[in-house]
Amino acid sequence: MDKFHIRGGVALKGRVSISGAKNSALPCMAAAILTPETITLHNIPYVRDIITMRRLLEDIGAHVLTPELRTHKISAANVELMQAPYELVKTMRASVLALGPLLARFGKARVSLPGGCAIGARPIDLHLASFSKMGADVFLEAGDVVARAPRDRLVGAEIQFEKISVTGTENVMMAATLARGKTVIHNAAREPEVRDLGELLNKMGARVRGAGTPKIEIEGVEALGGAQHTIIPDRIETGTFIVAGAITKGELEIKDCNPEHCNRIIGKLRDAGVEIEEVNQSTLRVSYGKPIRAADLKTEEYPGFATDMQAQYMTLMTQADGQSEITETIFENRFMHASELQRMGARIQISHDKAVVEGPTNLIGARVQASDLRASASLVLAGLIAEGETIIDRVYHIDRGYEKIETKLKAVGANIERVRESVTSPLSASQEVRG
Ligand code: UD1
Repeated sequence: MDKFHIRGGVALKGRVSISGAKNSALPCMAAAILTPETITLHNIPYVRDIITMRRLLEDIGAHVLTPELRTHKISAANVELMQAPYELVKTMRASVLALGPLLARFGKARVSLPGGCAIGARPIDLHLASFSKMGADVFLEAGDVVARAPRDRLVGAEIQFEKISVTGTENVMMAATLARGKTVIHNAAREPEVRDLGELLNKMGARVRGAGTPKIEIEGVEALGGAQHTIIPDRIETGTFIVAGAITKGELEIKDCNPEHCNRIIGKLRDAGVEIEEVNQSTLRVSYGKPIRAADLKTEEYPGFATDMQAQYMTLMTQADGQSEITETIFENRFMHASELQRMGARIQISHDKAVVEGPTNLIGARVQASDLRASASLVLAGLIAEGETIIDRVYHIDRGYEKIETKLKAVGANIERVRESVTSPLSASQEVRG
């Protein structure tokens, strides 16, 4: 398993380019299952979760061509298997995104139920209840969720999500495109990735209105066709690099991003004293001006502050002057990075869904372990400012969602190396990954 060795203390300076959003690319790739025609997706990030989704598509019989590194041409003309196996679902929960499109196009699907997860219980009950409401017979068989539509076609329905779910909204949206009649999703997730998927679906001939708002209306159509689409920039990677620039007291130009999608992240970081300038519609400049200030934070569904930026914000707060309270409202048990940060000298108290960070503290390099994707990013940020060397184990977590983070950081001056270990662990990476 690879490790990162980081020597802290370098102010990052230069330009960094943001990759496409993994969380948009995944549902857009799954949407290709909805049509026998080719879907061409541009700006796909080169990260592990995308490779997993590609494997899933190929496993069911789809063809995926990559004429260029970031372009995928997907043809699901010859789907033979209507199922996502346990081996893939356990490594990536977003594999459940295959359920809606398979059920919509073929009237049947089998997806292994995601198991335990490192960031709290993440059930898919909302997805399943919605498919039942659309007429599907949904049951559990040998650890798999099996769903069957009456006479092979779902029927439109009024779906009221009691809790906002991003992939739940996307799954139902995809399922509804080929259903008989109209589906209305109430209390839908408003994330930019949901809107991006809606745009792709409409290019394929779907009739989706309101993606990106709390109410989405979908008129089912008979069939969908091919389309081309460019994936939006990754707002979490953008936020992570803003923190990297600020925390190292550097100056970074962050290009190929969408500042509009990062409004709340930018606003919160400005509250903490970070200087962020919007250079143009796709470029931000972050620079160090004043010392970092402590500012409380509560994670919320979009347009609120993203839970996927909570860990990185916590690292920033270890450098702030004063006490900050961080409340995690989306996932239980999403403070696992805190104990690793404590080992580096951070002063953090956790109680239930709250973390109180006392700053500023001098972080000291240590050997730490990444526990999930965003937790790993927070440890990299800590390593960038820690005294001495930080070694981060299990960086496969970060490879799931950040494209070549060490290459991008090195290009702006960071002292970071990936060290490949030849000794193989008794557990393979895929057995250990959760989340
Ligand atoms: C997506 C993102 C993930 C992000 C999360 C929250 C993708 C591929 N992943 O995950 O990066 O952290 O949104 O912004 O887009 N819930 C239920 N029942 C369900 C579904 C969800 O109770 O059927 C709960 C979850 O346990 C959680 C909350 O709803 O507490 C939000 O989860 P959800 O929005 O579904 O997260 P994901 O879509 O899995």
